Amino acid sequence: KEIAFIFDLDGVIVDTAKYHFLAWRNLATQLGFEFTEAHNELLKGVSRIKSLEILLNIGKVQLSEEEKQKYLVQKNEEYLSFVNKMTSEEILPGVSNLLDYLDAHNIKYALGSASKNAPLILEKVGLYKRFSALVDGNDVSKAKPDPEVFLIGAKKLNMKPENCVVVEDAIAGVEAAKLANMKCVGIGDAEVLGKADVVFKDMTGFTSEFLNKLINN
Ligand code: BG6
Ligand code: MG
Repeated sequence: KEIAFIFDLDGVIVDTAKYHFLAWRNLATQLGFEFTEAHNELLKGVSRIKSLEILLNIGKVQLSEEEKQKYLVQKNEEYLSFVNKMTSEEILPGVSNLLDYLDAHNIKYALGSASKNAPLILEKVGLYKRFSALVDGNDVSKAKPDPEVFLIGAKKLNMKPENCVVVEDAIAGVEAAKLANMKCVGIGDAEVLGKADVVFKDMTGFTSEFLNKLINN
């Protein structure tokens, strides 16, 4: 059976959550409150503007629209200062092997990310050219858990949703995949990502045994 993959970026291909954390934490410090790693969990898979809203809620800070825009730009500039130093060393374990397997079996794959920085990040780690299609935060109007990002991905790959496999580390992303009527592999904690069809601790879970079964099903 012909299948295709749609990958989330942050937390699946690379671990950029640590850079988002540093930039958001600095903003919180500047606004006079503490922002912890536990708080940062709430921002995974969430769009940039929604992330700021959550952060401001945590600090009980109210800002005008103008100030929000200013801090969003500032946060992103700091985030980009980390992204600009990224290299292929930051590709998460298991990812390169999986892409090699997919290429060898002529299985197409797309990116389905909420990040507006996704093309730059892929470029930095040397994976940009490998993807047949990219859908990122610039292409969608409705954030995950809305299925829009993955449905556009399927369309770009010319695949039916039911033949697509989404790989996601965020609850909102798993929900989006299921709403899109796609298979979903969760990356992380099985208790958190319970709605996924299968959950791996990390990307090394994609053994050739698992993949052979998937494509021969
Ligand atoms: C998601 C991340 O992939 O992209 C979120 O999990 C992030 O943490 C979102 O807020 C938007 O990213 P960016 O790069 O457009 O600010
Ligand atoms: Mg993610």
